[in-house]
Amino acid sequence: MNHDLANEIRSKVDIVDIIGERIPLVAKGKNFFGVCPFHDDTNPSMSVSREKQIYTCFSCHATGNVFTFLMNYEHIDFKEALKYLGDKVGVDTGSVKIAKKSTKFDNLYDAYKLSLKYYQNNLHSNYGHQAKKYLASRNIDEATIKEFEIGLSLDKRDDLTKLLTSKDYDLATLNRIGLTSDNHDIYNNRIMFPLYDINGRVVGFSGRRYDDIKDNKYVNTKETPIFKKGEMLYHYHIAREECRIKKSVIVMEGFMDVIRASTIGIKNTIALMGTALTKEQINLIKRLSNNIILCLDGDAPGVNAALNNGELLLNSGIEVKVVELPDNDDPDSFILKHGKERFEGLINNAQNYSDFKLNKLRDNVNFKSDEEKANYINRVIEETAKLDDAIRREVVLKRLAKEFDIGYNTLEMRMNSLLKNEEKKEVIIPKKTITKKDKYTKAFEQIIYFMLNNDWVIEKVMEERLIFPTTVMRNTCNEIKHYYSSYGNINVADFYTSIQDKEDIMLLINGILAEEYNETIDEMELREYFKVAKEYATKEEIKRLTGLMKKEVDPLEQAKIVEKIRKLRLGDK
Ligand code: UTP
Ligand code: MN
Repeated sequence: MNHDLANEIRSKVDIVDIIGERIPLVAKGKNFFGVCPFHDDTNPSMSVSREKQIYTCFSCHATGNVFTFLMNYEHIDFKEALKYLGDKVGVDTGSVKIAKKSTKFDNLYDAYKLSLKYYQNNLHSNYGHQAKKYLASRNIDEATIKEFEIGLSLDKRDDLTKLLTSKDYDLATLNRIGLTSDNHDIYNNRIMFPLYDINGRVVGFSGRRYDDIKDNKYVNTKETPIFKKGEMLYHYHIAREECRIKKSVIVMEGFMDVIRASTIGIKNTIALMGTALTKEQINLIKRLSNNIILCLDGDAPGVNAALNNGELLLNSGIEVKVVELPDNDDPDSFILKHGKERFEGLINNAQNYSDFKLNKLRDNVNFKSDEEKANYINRVIEETAKLDDAIRREVVLKRLAKEFDIGYNTLEMRMNSLLKNEEKKEVIIPKKTITKKDKYTKAFEQIIYFMLNNDWVIEKVMEERLIFPTTVMRNTCNEIKHYYSSYGNINVADFYTSIQDKEDIMLLINGILAEEYNETIDEMELREYFKVAKEYATKEEIKRLTGLMKKEVDPLEQAKIVEKIRKLRLGDK
């Protein structure tokens, strides 16, 4: 492992930027706070220090530097994190070799790779004329076909099956991963759209009918070990980078919508593939951006999907925005008819989900019926009470009071009674979890903390030959000394890189960092800590001697031990 390279790269990036690109951070004092992505939470329990270049979660104790953050957040290894950051700050990481990870699914991915090539070839062969004509009629040009790796399955029933079995794939495997059924192909005479997992590997297909078959419009790969529908979002691997640049993610219904948007240069998009969001998908979307724009189909099912998915996202703590398309459009047809500028206009003017929902409440209400009207007003108040923003609540109620000529106070009273029932959700930075530690453990931990932050404390610990009570503390102390003698100074963020394979040390350090001890100390104070540490050593020695004495049978020897203990006790004072 090349630590100098790692330290160089680390010193050139700011952890606040890297984490801030992934989760929203709010400045508070000299630190930044955000919702910790490493445990289930909605409170901002993670603090990020610009000064120290580390993050710490007070709740789950996840702690580390910019590398460990990326490794855990992006599920990548150290070398990948190093390369990613190196590229970002222009440091050459060519010497870092990333070993190809092999998984038990490798041959499944390979089967999909082969199938993809096969389908792509078909489209460009003589069999592909009709399909190409269809694609052209839908304004899908050659560049787009290439970019989205669109292909064609043939009407031959077992072509792909033969190809794959000739490459030593057994039928059972091919059946299991949804490429064949019995001994023939699953897809016949369809335009093939590869589906990718979040890392960009092809793990399934969606085949669209394109001539006069009356069958289902799309046939999709079944659920397989590598294709989990509840965890996939079309275009995610491309959107990742784009969403960071555009600072938003646009959620669409179908992959045709995503493909169309891409042709006009809008690539911060993902497609739901016609399903309601799962918890896993919501977590994936949250990672792309906290500015989520739903741009679903304009028809009734699309509006319903916006209401349902908007609510799901709201309940997971994000207020999304909603774009309403004309009734008979989806993003694909809208862009084709009206072009890039008008589509971007819609995106930029997306309304808040709660406003969208309030509007939708009006649909199908007969305002001539007093009962329906009262129902409607009550529903609006209920929804308004859910708004986080007092000013917006007032605006909505005033509008309601005016429209229906009802006293504002009446409406407000009703809403306040609802608000009382709802627990106030104030954003409070949670208190760190306090674990009771005895004074000795605390003193030793604090000494380690001071060592991590002050070079001179390391020197003092070496001078005093301080002995730490547990193996992991001793190992930690040795690592710190070793780091210090190699580099001549210490900082927590770089030290972290050097211990990343030593889990016990890392755990200890995480626990210590989560305590938020005072970091500056002077020599007098340090003496006090050393005194407590030495007191511990004496206490342990007395314990040992007392045990010895009890076992001793010779009274003369016993007296000697008693004398030793007495001296130790005196020296203790
Ligand atoms: P749509 O019916 O909106 O598809 O379904 P689309 O994007 O407009 O497709 P075109 O323009 O008619 O070709 C949205 C998504 O729902 C899934 C697909 O993933 C599609 O992208 N779907 C739809 C199916 O899986 N099967 C179907 O029969 C229809
Ligand atoms: Mn559609």
